[in-house]
Amino acid sequence: MDNFAPYNRPVRAAFIGLGRIYDLNVRGYLDNPDVEVVALVDPNAERRAQRQADWPAAATFESVAQLAASGIEVDAVEALLPAPLHADGVVELLEHGWHVNMQKPMCNDLTDAQRMLDAAKAATRVLRVMDNYLFYQPFHKLKAVVESGEIGAVAGYHLKMVGTGNGGWEVPWSSFEYQLEQIRLGRGILVFDDGWHKLTTALWLFGPVREVRAWIGTTSFGSGIDLDAPSTICWEHVSGVRGVWDITLAPDMYLRSDYYTNDERWEVTGTKGFARLNRVTGRGIQEPSLEVYADGEMRGYHALDDDWASSFRDSGRYWLRWLRTGEGPLLWSAGEAVDVLRFALAAYESSAAGGIGVDPAKVV
Ligand SMILES: NC(=O)c1ccc[n+]([C@@H]2O[C@H](COP(=O)([O-])OP(=O)(O)OC[C@H]3O[C@@H](n4cnc5c(N)ncnc54)[C@H](O)[C@@H]3O)[C@@H](O)[C@H]2O)c1
Repeated sequence: MDNFAPYNRPVRAAFIGLGRIYDLNVRGYLDNPDVEVVALVDPNAERRAQRQADWPAAATFESVAQLAASGIEVDAVEALLPAPLHADGVVELLEHGWHVNMQKPMCNDLTDAQRMLDAAKAATRVLRVMDNYLFYQPFHKLKAVVESGEIGAVAGYHLKMVGTGNGGWEVPWSSFEYQLEQIRLGRGILVFDDGWHKLTTALWLFGPVREVRAWIGTTSFGSGIDLDAPSTICWEHVSGVRGVWDITLAPDMYLRSDYYTNDERWEVTGTKGFARLNRVTGRGIQEPSLEVYADGEMRGYHALDDDWASSFRDSGRYWLRWLRTGEGPLLWSAGEAVDVLRFALAAYESSAAGGIGVDPAKVV
């Protein structure tokens, strides 16, 4: 936003939605002199009581409308709303004149995305679609290794994601109900919801994409639980670099995780070596989170901060510092998030048409 005026005092912030992911998002706010948390909003009384323990001085509300009517001054909100409520919810927050840091997926279609961009423009407020993966230290090291030329020129890359059925933290059934609603709307949990991060990292690492080809499958567990795997999606960046992403389900596999259980890897192949990021949310087998092979030698990075939660802390701190300075990229702006949405929509369009190449810039 061109005319953004940074705050020369701590930002007055409110959390909107106090569910599962609050546990990680709150880390950017705790012990942070850039922010004063003034309000907490959630229709669920239990959640309000639970989160009030972190912020005894904050006012709590059942709804955004009640917060807005309270007269409490708010500069920015941390929108942790269920995905199906993103578009309407975020437009409402912007219309109240608050800057918004929202979660992925931004929204389900381009009409809603435009509505959100228009609302931000009309309110002259900043809309950020945070992606904590962009703050995961092993990704930063991967990018640095690739850009250093250590593995030669990039020849291609591969993302692997295995949805493992056992392990990880408890996800309340109410969270899963929102996912079922998204599934009914054709926006699956693997390709679209978790997949949003993978597509973001692809754009962040290698720039714009000009063609996507996809084969999106379904595995049904009954009662509307239709998971979008096996799936294979490949693409070509404008630079000519190709990426391929395979998604597999392993419902009986146990994978140790402090958060969501998911076995995932990114492997960038260079003309003279490779760099492999071995995990993100899961802890799986105990190997370094980043390994680099070149000239017949393997280097393992054992001292990176590879706790997935740290990426939430750093993304939140970055946003709050950004509001204090207005400096640097938003990581990720709403416009960049629309590119991620287009990438996903191109995959759906390709798959529906039998795997033909689709240009994300041309999806409607
Ligand atoms: N960055 C990541 O890796 C990551 C991981 C998980 C979830 N998320 C995202 O975080 C968001 C929240 O997910 P979650 O897992 O915490 O869901 P959740 O279902 O656990 O929590 C959502 C909370 O929002 C509350 N809520 C519902 N309607 C509301 C309203 N109108 N106003 C205020 N609060 C309302 C619910 O009562 C609930 O407490 C989603 O957008 C999800 O995609 C991101």
